Amino acid sequence: MGIRLGAAWYPEHWDEVTWRQDLKLMREAGLNVVRIAEFAWADIEPSEGHFALDWLERAVSLAAEHGLDVVMGTPTAAPPAWLTQAYPEVLAVDEHGRRAQHGKRCHYDVTSSLYQKLCARVVEELARRFGPDERVIGWQIDNEYNRVSFSEQARRAFQEWLQGLYVDDEGRPSLAALNSAWTTSYWSQKYTSWSQIPLPAEQNHNPALILRFHQFVTEAYCRFQRLQLEIIRRYARPGQWITSNFMGFFHGFDHYRICEELDLASWDHYIGTGHLDLVRAGAAHDLTRGFKRRNFWVMETQPGCVNWAPINNMLDRGEARAMAWNGIGRGADAVLYWQWRSALNGQEQYHGTLVAPDGTPRPFYQEVKRLSEDLQKVGDLLDGQTIRAEVALLHSYDDRWAIEAQRHHRDFDPLAHYLHYYRCFAGRSIMTDIISSRAPLSDHGYKLVIGAPVHIIDEAIAAELKRFASEGGHLVLSIRSGFKDAHNRLHQSRPPALLQDAAGMYVEEYYALLEPVPLRLELGGQAIEGQGQIWAEWLTPLEGTQVLARYGSSNGWLDGQAAVTAHPYGAGWVYYVGAWLDERTQAALMGWIAERAGVRPVLAGLPENVAALRRGDAIVVVSARRERCQLSLPGRYRDQLTGRLLEVELELEPYGVAVLVPA
Ligand code: GLA
Repeated sequence: MGIRLGAAWYPEHWDEVTWRQDLKLMREAGLNVVRIAEFAWADIEPSEGHFALDWLERAVSLAAEHGLDVVMGTPTAAPPAWLTQAYPEVLAVDEHGRRAQHGKRCHYDVTSSLYQKLCARVVEELARRFGPDERVIGWQIDNEYNRVSFSEQARRAFQEWLQGLYVDDEGRPSLAALNSAWTTSYWSQKYTSWSQIPLPAEQNHNPALILRFHQFVTEAYCRFQRLQLEIIRRYARPGQWITSNFMGFFHGFDHYRICEELDLASWDHYIGTGHLDLVRAGAAHDLTRGFKRRNFWVMETQPGCVNWAPINNMLDRGEARAMAWNGIGRGADAVLYWQWRSALNGQEQYHGTLVAPDGTPRPFYQEVKRLSEDLQKVGDLLDGQTIRAEVALLHSYDDRWAIEAQRHHRDFDPLAHYLHYYRCFAGRSIMTDIISSRAPLSDHGYKLVIGAPVHIIDEAIAAELKRFASEGGHLVLSIRSGFKDAHNRLHQSRPPALLQDAAGMYVEEYYALLEPVPLRLELGGQAIEGQGQIWAEWLTPLEGTQVLARYGSSNGWLDGQAAVTAHPYGAGWVYYVGAWLDERTQAALMGWIAERAGVRPVLAGLPENVAALRRGDAIVVVSARRERCQLSLPGRYRDQLTGRLLEVELELEPYGVAVLVPA
């Protein structure tokens, strides 16, 4: 089937004549998949228990007649007005105790068992009708899970969930176990009944409570999703897959957990204000690929502009094509635009679309057409091809929640710190996986693994990292690694707890920095005068550990202490980076480590905001630059998009794309 191209379409346009016109234009643009029904509950179940699916079936038939496959959305992100009026208790409650109003979406309380029952009923109707349907290739459950409810029912469900987590030796719920793990004698928090445990609706709660609440929200969405999965799977014909669409680095729930039960991961790729940064967008693609450790879909992408950003600027001409290829080069098997046609009313009137209210193409339509022409040329070459990376960055929602709740320095944004590492590799066109900190590392061919940081650590995580390094891998640990245990409790040994022996050092002290501290990095005879900013740690090396960087004079404590260390461990190496380094020093250090680990870029020496991505045997080169640029090639290649033979150089137009195979 090649790479899929598609758009979202909503029932507000439903009448046969319009739909036929739309389908004809979709076909002419080269689309082969349409996503429908994800907010259509009010049209699917116009009144309680009365279902109207014939129009939807007709829409599916007509799509098929025009050669388009269908992705069916379950409409549960938008409960109808009759439902919220009859059952107001299904509406979410915010931190201040206010119930959500009708008229928006995702206004439901995911912990409501009544809501789950109502969802199950509509999903069952849809699944019964479209599960066996050849024309429906897959399902999307709900839309962008995000809402957290602080209702009474959520509180009770949280308390119940905790009872399964904190148990005594015989597996019985144990408040004593919870009190001990949460250190509740502190500030007299000790609980004598499960019913006393609050939801963290205010700032500055117990770190264990905060972490567990995020995990609970994840479990609540898992349960909500599982209910729909089970129903759909009961009716689905073989081959129909099920996904849900996510929002990049949004961290309202643990995506690894949610994806365990899905067949496919997908995400919605928007830029909002500004322009395409290949590395920043690339990180979200790599993240999504890592959810199931295989190719993924871009379920929504921006057709020119959005309507929700501070400035809804239109992408430059050609930019969306580069945006799509940046995803395809990183393992996207489909790119779908949101949405096809403007709704005449509703909250998203100004959003970009492919077709205007009069049903004729907007300028952006041509851009999608061009992308479909690309895909006709190379779709087969890339079909079924996956990404193999030599570098893996570990990622953990627990870590992000734990640090976010206690930044210690207001500028310690865990995601910014994470991307500070990612950029050193992806920005140099080194293929990089982003995987769960709990993912097994063997059999993936990694040479370099980075924990930026591995903040919460337990025996299982530590054992896998040690095994990786001892078998010859290079392991980098950043600041704040090995600080906490699974209860978000401080480890009783110095950081990096459980990894001190592997890292050959420990953290003597940590400092939030008012001003940058100077440091000197020495890499094989070359010295770099750099800085640590925001956060610095005084490292105490153990025997046999090399010191790669030392602090200059600053607060007295750090003066002359180790800032970066390297320690041989088994057949490999463990590096500890004790400060948030300035960009130049960070790039030099990561470049040096990558070289020692034998990691190679797909193409070296690329200009800023140009990426070379390897998918199977092909190299996808993408420019997100407004001006032309040249790059040199290490051999002879043929560009499969133009058919040109390239000897030593490739010239790219603004936002240019090439798909190279060795010639
Ligand atoms: C989200 C939603 C879509 C639409 C777009 C607009 O990603 O999933 O339904 O609202 O944003 O950018």
